[in-house]
Amino acid sequence: MPALVLLGAQWGDEGKGKATDLLGGSVDYVVRYQGGNNAGHTVVVGDQKYALHLLPSGILSPGCTPVIGNGVVVDPSVLLSELSGLNERGVDTSKLLISGNAHIITPYNVTVDKVTERFLGKRKIGTTGRGIGPTYADKINRVGIRVQDLYDESILTQKVEAALDVKNQILTKLYNRRAIAVGQVVEELLGYAEKLEPYVADTVLILNQALEENKVVLFEGGQGTLLDIDHGTYPFVTSSNPTAGGACTGAGVGPTKISRVIGILKAYTTRVGSGPFPTELFDEDGEALRRIGGERGVTTGRDRRCGWFDAVIARYATRVNGLTDFFLTKLDVLTGWEQIPVCVAYEIDGKRVEELPYSQTDFHHAKPVYEMLPGWQEDITKAKTFADLPKNAQNYVKALEEMSGAPISAIGVGPGRDETIEINSFL
Ligand code: GDP
Ligand code: IMO
Ligand code: MG
Repeated sequence: MPALVLLGAQWGDEGKGKATDLLGGSVDYVVRYQGGNNAGHTVVVGDQKYALHLLPSGILSPGCTPVIGNGVVVDPSVLLSELSGLNERGVDTSKLLISGNAHIITPYNVTVDKVTERFLGKRKIGTTGRGIGPTYADKINRVGIRVQDLYDESILTQKVEAALDVKNQILTKLYNRRAIAVGQVVEELLGYAEKLEPYVADTVLILNQALEENKVVLFEGGQGTLLDIDHGTYPFVTSSNPTAGGACTGAGVGPTKISRVIGILKAYTTRVGSGPFPTELFDEDGEALRRIGGERGVTTGRDRRCGWFDAVIARYATRVNGLTDFFLTKLDVLTGWEQIPVCVAYEIDGKRVEELPYSQTDFHHAKPVYEMLPGWQEDITKAKTFADLPKNAQNYVKALEEMSGAPISAIGVGPGRDETIEINSFL
């Protein structure tokens, strides 16, 4: 069973970085397949904390080859500074592979992201402002710049010209901004070419050959299921496919190769940016979850919106991703509540609804139907096995598993590598 996908089952920030790092030591390749530096994946190793944005979390495991797949959007300046930051901390990054087909986040994509958000005012998406949406828009409009274009100055110039032809009209006439000079963009991009060259590779070929040799490949999702452009809470989503199918298109690997899909699931719910969130709390409990869980964005530093666990969402994630397992994270954060509400269904316009409604209007009207589960007071951060957990914590996990539709195979009880209870092995 060589290929596994590990992805966010909610709205991102579920603890994908920690989970990936945990498996990093036992896999041969860790591949990012979508998104870009909108992601912020935290890995804690001993007393060291790393915040990764573009690099796959496998980069911290010496035996593992990190790969940036064709479906990722790459901001070269961010990538280079992330690499040098890790090098300064003694991490070897020389094995990194970057797909020549990955699209580049250009400076004008970042500008367009920021000005469109400003223009939207209170209807804004609350993007990370990293140029993600505009870069994927250029890809789909067939005016994108790819990593391989950095190695042909004439093609690069033609493509930047074509992209800026339209964008400068929009920037100057609609948004009242200054036009961006083609030459300046080309010069900046060419400045990255030589530094990136050692990493650029035919990642599709390499990954498929690795799979033929029975090597273990782990696909690390960015964002989460409900931020998926097709399956998320559109339009309050990111512009890529974090769901399992995205791993196939974003890395060039067929679905027949994937044997396990692991959903990372927080024991409560958080969301950054705008959009519906039925279990969101605006009271002391929400404040407590934010404080105890350290719920502040790794990329933008924004406070995360917090709420109780939503089983409707978890069931939906099981379905659209074909999840085989869950990795339940941050159970320790829930220690100390007398009772913990869990959303088991929604009430929409007076009717009880068990599954996520496909209609945006209905979802905006969804009110959580809660079931109260008894809490626990004991510190669980030292628990090593399921049996070490207090009875009520065990029951909370079992109840979530039953409602969510896939086995919970691991439980996080702290941010560190070893603060994990393994129930079923992933490999
Ligand atoms: P990602 O984007 O999915 O990788 O998640 P983030 O790194 O943005 O946010 C998850 C946060 O929770 C990070 O600060 C992690 O160090 C932390 N974390 C992960 N798993 C656990 C856990 O089981 N317990 C606690 N207390 N923290 C965790
Ligand atoms: P990780 O990988 C949480 C959210 C943004 C915004 C929406 C669109 O750390 O889980 P974008 O910049 O992607 O166009 O913004 O998506 N968002 C995330 N929220 N975790 C992330 O990544 C996110 N990446 C994007 O806040 O609402
Ligand atoms: Mg994150």
